[in-house]
Amino acid sequence: MEKLLADHRRQLGDFEVVEFVDEQEIAALREKLDVPVPLELHWSWEYGSEIEELRALYERGKRGQWNAETDIDWSIPFPRDEWFVPRENALLLPTLLTMMGVDEETCRQAAFDEFAHLISQLLHGEQAALQLCGQLTNACPTIDQKFYAASQVADEARHVEVLAKFIERKLGMIYPIDPTLKVLLDRLLEAPTWKLKTLGMQTLFEGMAVAIFDQIVRAATNPLIKDILRRVQIDEARHAAFGVLTMRKVVQEATEEEMAEMEDFAFAILETLNANQQLDFLRQAAPKYGLDPEAVVQSLHAMPQWAQLNSEVYMHTVIPNLWRLGLITERTEEKYRKAGILWGDRFEARHQLPLAS
Ligand SMILES: [Fe+2]
Ligand SMILES: [Fe+2]
Repeated sequence: MEKLLADHRRQLGDFEVVEFVDEQEIAALREKLDVPVPLELHWSWEYGSEIEELRALYERGKRGQWNAETDIDWSIPFPRDEWFVPRENALLLPTLLTMMGVDEETCRQAAFDEFAHLISQLLHGEQAALQLCGQLTNACPTIDQKFYAASQVADEARHVEVLAKFIERKLGMIYPIDPTLKVLLDRLLEAPTWKLKTLGMQTLFEGMAVAIFDQIVRAATNPLIKDILRRVQIDEARHAAFGVLTMRKVVQEATEEEMAEMEDFAFAILETLNANQQLDFLRQAAPKYGLDPEAVVQSLHAMPQWAQLNSEVYMHTVIPNLWRLGLITERTEEKYRKAGILWGDRFEARHQLPLAS
């Protein structure tokens, strides 16, 4: 599989970045609202449960429903002039600005901006999950999968609702989708088979979402965002479990050719996501704070612990799950390491473990 976005790549030091610089092209991507997707619908006449663990997950999902309007205490403020994460635990821009000795108010403003951007991207990702699960309800072959995907559609609608309301009511600004993210989400939605759609959304993007939500929930000190994301995170953990359960079966039945296709697909998506190195965000926000986007990325790459820090979000869930599924092999492991996605010796022991259910 050739590299995604080959014409948007260039060397930055010894790292190959993917980035969008042409404003017209970015606008065109954002305006592309209609995406033709291949969808093969499957009927099933087996109404009884065939995959017990999946039916149990569906039951858990039913019990875990919540109402984004009435179960959240929307009267809790999210003040612009207070830290919502500890300053020492803050995001990229405020950390850099603090190191440069910039005043606290500016650092807090940068944290607010960066958070608004991150939550906006998560919101757009939630919409993609909503669309994709709708596809899976049609395309998956068994009734257990259809039930689960359908219940996930309701979850994802709630996630879109709750994040949109949070942004509208508390942040006041929504960042448009980053171009690299739009391209990747379209790739998942356009994937030709339900197996690749499941791998892409349920394993790769749900795995990334679990990690990001977990990082924010742990760090956040504001009770409103903590409550919202904790609720979302519980749902997402079920979704990731659906991905693992379904993919485990897909992998067991896959031919060598299908395995290679899935390994390459997973690597291509994660590598491209990582190759942006937040440049889509930095191009919008860094100059406001007197920072040069490229210089920010280069200074990160110059840190001795860069690969360890960079890989954290991947090593949280998605890489261990891919590894347990057998979708990272000797053929691809080194490529993940080189990109700063897979890191550490500790990890070597993990592939001895049986697949977690
Ligand atoms: Fe979600
Ligand atoms: Fe999800």
